[in-house]
Amino acid sequence: MKRQTNRQRDRLDAHIFVCTNTRGSEHACCADADGEAVVEAVKRWLQDRDLFWSSVSVGTTSCLGLCSEGGAALTIQPRDEWFSDVRPEDVPDLLAGEFGSGGDR
Ligand code: FES
Repeated sequence: MKRQTNRQRDRLDAHIFVCTNTRGSEHACCADADGEAVVEAVKRWLQDRDLFWSSVSVGTTSCLGLCSEGGAALTIQPRDEWFSDVRPEDVPDLLAGEFGSGGDR
């Protein structure tokens, strides 16, 4: 086992976790609310700014406790920002609000 805390603190400005969890047909879940499309929209926004797998990374996660039929949940860490009901078309404004339109903050 290797502790990698300092390496990641030096390397990463933020990690975006997008929920793509499924909860079956009885409950609202991000898998049914275009969670995968939100992930792809985040990747596209980062790639367009040459930020993909640089100081900002993205990954999928299980339930964040913000389940909704209206869109996916995501969190940006370690900034402690949390969003629910995110639609793919919301991603550019959401990320520009967080990182600047060029991804430079
Ligand atoms: S299934 Fe995504 S927040 Fe619960």
